[in-house]
Amino acid sequence: MSEVLVLHGPNLHYLGKRETNLYGSLTLDEINQRILDKAKSLRLDAYIDQSNSEAELMTLIYEAKARDVNFIIFNPAAYTHTSIALRDALIAVEIPFIEVHLSNIYARESFRHHSYFSDIALGSIAGLGPNSYLLALEAAATYLKDRINEKNSN
Ligand code: DQA
Repeated sequence: MSEVLVLHGPNLHYLGKRETNLYGSLTLDEINQRILDKAKSLRLDAYIDQSNSEAELMTLIYEAKARDVNFIIFNPAAYTHTSIALRDALIAVEIPFIEVHLSNIYARESFRHHSYFSDIALGSIAGLGPNSYLLALEAAATYLKDRINEKNSN
């Protein structure tokens, strides 16, 4: 089974209480349960982590590499708009990833319109609330199945 890391960045531990007009009323635990249910239905082996620290997020990315994780779904939260270090880590580990956001960052303040991840991600999904993660899982499952089929036909 392919292994997928779903990684949440800073302040996302506070979902359900934080700016619910933008991020909705579900808590992170509730969103994580939906992620795990979806992953199971797609036959993906998903594990989930969250950190408020840039350094810790980097450690989690390098740990994913060490355990041969096949795919990352990443909501870098505010680090989307600031972190060259996390960008460099994702380039270094060469694990394919999708960038996700709950809110539509392009419909918000102009400083949120730039992402350090969009151009190195397989794709980005923003603005669909918790469904952004679930759609990213579907895309990851298709991507990983295609890679396995390619390998088998060679
Ligand atoms: C976010 C959007 C970011 O701009 C913001 O800093 C977040 C959450 C989102 O999921 O919509 O913390 O990544």
